[in-house]
Amino acid sequence: MATAVITGGTDGIGRALADTYLDRGHEVLIVGTSEGKGRAFVESAGRRGAGDRARFLQADLSLVAENRRVIDRIAEQYRAVDVLVLGARYHRSTRAETPDGFESNFALYYLSRYLLSHGLVGLLGRAERATVLNFGGSGLTGPVRWNDLQLRRNYPGTGALGHGAALCDLLGVHFTRAYADTPVHYVLNHPGVVSTSFAGEYDAFTAAHVDGLRTSGKPVSLAVAQILPYLDAPPARLTAVLEGRQLPTDTPAFDPAAAERLHTITEKLLADLPR
Ligand SMILES: NC(=O)c1ccc[n+]([C@@H]2O[C@H](COP(=O)([O-])OP(=O)(O)OC[C@H]3O[C@@H](n4cnc5c(N)ncnc54)[C@H](OP(=O)(O)O)[C@@H]3O)[C@@H](O)[C@H]2O)c1
Repeated sequence: MATAVITGGTDGIGRALADTYLDRGHEVLIVGTSEGKGRAFVESAGRRGAGDRARFLQADLSLVAENRRVIDRIAEQYRAVDVLVLGARYHRSTRAETPDGFESNFALYYLSRYLLSHGLVGLLGRAERATVLNFGGSGLTGPVRWNDLQLRRNYPGTGALGHGAALCDLLGVHFTRAYADTPVHYVLNHPGVVSTSFAGEYDAFTAAHVDGLRTSGKPVSLAVAQILPYLDAPPARLTAVLEGRQLPTDTPAFDPAAAERLHTITEKLLADLPR
């Protein structure tokens, strides 16, 4: 039986993808912080006769140790991972650091996805053809602040998500080059504006703006319909998608040298952390 692991699967696009893969007969593990939302997913699966295939793992993915625990738990529970969706995010209007000392978006939007992508590559490699979906910027959300990856100067608020997304684009580039000998495909998706929970803490001005996005954004069902064809049949080892349209990956945002540079920096940051 195929397995889908979905971070941010408790809400928004991630939750809709979790339901989709459940309907397709997959085993589905969702990861989030909310016990209540996780329970609601498992209970709703039970009502549809799929309770034995639905699992929730509570974890704060902004913490490095939590990502490592999640990887270990997945390795204990599943033989292979066919679909890995990296969708957890949490907006902050004011800069914050995690206990590991990383800027919160860097930690959750980028570093968690880095750890999970690399940490689960063995299980992904065991699937007949695995696909990773990372909600990156699809080349549209840079530039990368090379001299300020932790966004200490002029914290950009909403732009911090876009910065994390640009880092995810480079993660996708490095990942597909590093694991070219595996059957794993990597899809970077920018869904456009979608009416979801927009998880986060917002100042008054941004909150009003986000309320508008919740009203004007497209339905989650449309965002899922736009990405599913790329998950079912990725056209390339690395694919970038904007609202259902494939974008080129030979642009400067996907520069392999920049991807290698970010990989090296990230490995050093992780090596410097106390285990
Ligand atoms: N919606 C849009 O307009 C839009 C636009 C561009 C890109 N995107 C991207 O699409 C992806 C999905 O977005 P969405 O709008 O569907 O999400 P969303 O409704 O805002 O939900 C965010 C998810 O992240 C989880 N999460 C938050 N903090 C977490 C933490 N510390 N540890 C683990 N999980 C955590 C939440 O789970 P809990 O509540 O259980 O913690 C929730 O499931 C994201 O990467 C987002 O940046 C969305």
